[in-house]
Amino acid sequence: MKPHARRLDGFRQSTIRAMTERCVAVGGINLGQGLSRTPPPDDLLDHATAHFASADHSYSPAHGDAVLRQAVARKLAEYNGVHVDPEHGVVATIGATGAYNAAVLAHLDPGDGLLLPEPFYGYHRTVAEIHGVVPQPVRTDAPGFRIDRAALEAATTDRTRAIVLCTPGNPSGHRMPPDEIEEVARFAADRDLLVITDEIYEHLYYGDEPHRSPASFDLLRDRTITVSGLSKTYSIPGWRLGYAAGPPELIAPLRIAADALSVCAPTPLQQIAARAFTLPDSFYARTRQDYRRKRDRIAAAFRDAGLATNDPEGAYYLLVDGTPLGGDSGEVAETILSAAGIATIPADAFHLGAAPYPYVRACFALTDADILRVEEHLSEVKWP
Ligand SMILES: Cc1ncc(COP(=O)(O)O)c(C=O)c1O
Repeated sequence: MKPHARRLDGFRQSTIRAMTERCVAVGGINLGQGLSRTPPPDDLLDHATAHFASADHSYSPAHGDAVLRQAVARKLAEYNGVHVDPEHGVVATIGATGAYNAAVLAHLDPGDGLLLPEPFYGYHRTVAEIHGVVPQPVRTDAPGFRIDRAALEAATTDRTRAIVLCTPGNPSGHRMPPDEIEEVARFAADRDLLVITDEIYEHLYYGDEPHRSPASFDLLRDRTITVSGLSKTYSIPGWRLGYAAGPPELIAPLRIAADALSVCAPTPLQQIAARAFTLPDSFYARTRQDYRRKRDRIAAAFRDAGLATNDPEGAYYLLVDGTPLGGDSGEVAETILSAAGIATIPADAFHLGAAPYPYVRACFALTDADILRVEEHLSEVKWP
């Protein structure tokens, strides 16, 4: 028997999972995995305890339980300025990853090109490649990470069919301002591209500007699939709940793809999670304030240890410049793990080619106890 299907040739375990295993092996502090250690909101857990037994334990419709779809559509209108029909414009999925997977499967053929601004979230690349879609990296530069038309033109070929946006971005933390979204929108309209926008960090930002959803812009409304989920905002990644939303013509094929991939998202959790959308504004403000404090402490700890960081506007990652340590980003991550007992993710995981400089990604969504340990480790570290 052959060891695996040819479509998996070249695929390896993700760097993030591999680094997590290395971290456990050396008893380090894991800043690698993009995972929040903040507990889920009490209100949501209490609601789950009270309603789990009486929830529906069967399959939901392929596009999701009506209660969740209606809550998502209401939230999209109020928070994102995106108006979708809860029956024909929303599909509940297995996480935002499931929504992205279904969007790619439903709309792109093997050999089609998909513009992927670098640095990118690894699953945006991997999922595309699993489906035989060709990622086409679009260069953006630190510290702004702005997508401009020249870089889009340079990456586009006659096979390009779609572009992925991620705002706030993982790993960059970049939040696309309106004029950048408009520039991308004009390009997408000129080239007749589908836009898939991943906004899973939509509530996690540190400036005063509200979140801006690409699909709320006139030029993008009819060509955009908005992908998001509950993993990050509510710290429930294990519930595996996300959604895709957009115009019915784009969502109908996606619903077929999502059904084929996974039948439906977990029904009782869909019903319970609709409650999350009723949390008051103070919950989101408190969450942002908490992550901002953590960002500032971890950034200061790295800077005091001689490593500069970026100043992310959103999401919960810092980019730590490992240039003073020498070597490529993989070697920098190894040095930080062996000298400071801190696991991070090398930049190469976020680029198709080599990273432009040897940085690592550090997740700062830690417990306060772990933040203290990171501060202690970095204050005592002796770099080789
Ligand atoms: C940009 C982005 N999209 C999606 C996900 C995963 O989302 P989910 O747990 O909803 O599949 C992550 C997790 O790190 C992410 O960073």
